[in-house]
Amino acid sequence: MASKKRSPAAISAESGPQRKSGIGQGLARSGAQAGTDSGVSDGGHLGDEFRDPYSIFAEVYDEFMEHVPYAAWAHYLDRRYRALTRRTPRSVVDLACGTGQLLAHFPPGLQRSGMDGSRAMLERARRRLPDARLYHGRLERSLKFADGSQPHLVSTHDSLNYLLDPEDLSRHFAEVRRVLAPDGIYSLDLVSLENILKNFDNQTLRHKVRGRGLVWKNEYDPKTRLMRSDLEFYDKGARKSDPPAHTERHLQRYYSIEEVRGLARRAGLEVVLIEGDYEPREHRPSDNFWNLHLRIETSGGRRAI
Ligand SMILES: C[S@@+](CC[C@H](N)C(=O)[O-])C[C@H]1O[C@@H](n2cnc3c(N)ncnc32)[C@H](O)[C@@H]1O
Repeated sequence: MASKKRSPAAISAESGPQRKSGIGQGLARSGAQAGTDSGVSDGGHLGDEFRDPYSIFAEVYDEFMEHVPYAAWAHYLDRRYRALTRRTPRSVVDLACGTGQLLAHFPPGLQRSGMDGSRAMLERARRRLPDARLYHGRLERSLKFADGSQPHLVSTHDSLNYLLDPEDLSRHFAEVRRVLAPDGIYSLDLVSLENILKNFDNQTLRHKVRGRGLVWKNEYDPKTRLMRSDLEFYDKGARKSDPPAHTERHLQRYYSIEEVRGLARRAGLEVVLIEGDYEPREHRPSDNFWNLHLRIETSGGRRAI
């Protein structure tokens, strides 16, 4: 079970033993990139183009996330599915699966599927999970599953916070509603506001991963609810005066639970349980992550647990 200190979003600060948690282990559409391979303008976040802000970050993502308790997360999600449905799971789909670390920790025997918007991240997931069904796609677009076919969908590590427009989250929920099996469960996490304000806003985090420097500058705008994270990657042996070898701008949006509940309801989904930090207990404002469990709306709104 993830404690706050070892929460998944835990970022390892090179300079100290304490890890921070939260937003920005990635991002969805990103903004500027000084390198040649992933520049997307901030204003283009509703446009058609989607370039991969993880093309550089993917190289170090697993090392960077080595303190994330993916096994405990998978265990929690698996138990929640069983408790909410009274069924034994036979498959799981991870939406924005990244490098496949979470999928790898679900119990053996399950059919594993995943999708992600980053080819670089997916490439790593494919190497990790050669038997999984993985595809390149976008959260806010059609999901490649038949109507009503999926009993268990998950999305973790603030991936949905990468949808910058509530309409995109709404489209995402509509697709989830379409593919979710009648008794299925969709378990997602969201980053909390306290996590953003306490651990990221106006903070510069410095890390070293495989000898390469990573400087991460974060800023949250309460008006737009957007969190901007500028990542600078430095080559091994770079001097202080050297410019970064690559930069990435990552944008994420904070969503309140009520906002998400409303968007889900609009798509015909209901939130049946909310917990915090992958622990089986009531959520709190101080959690790093909120865990929401959704299913197709029923008129009675019955709760299994
Ligand atoms: C912080 S990572 C989390 C990855 C994985 N879920 C984990 O727990 O390690 C966020 C992931 O969301 C993906 N992503 C962001 N925006 C996306 C979008 N609009 N459609 C699909 N994937 C997206 C990124 O490519 C990245 O792999």
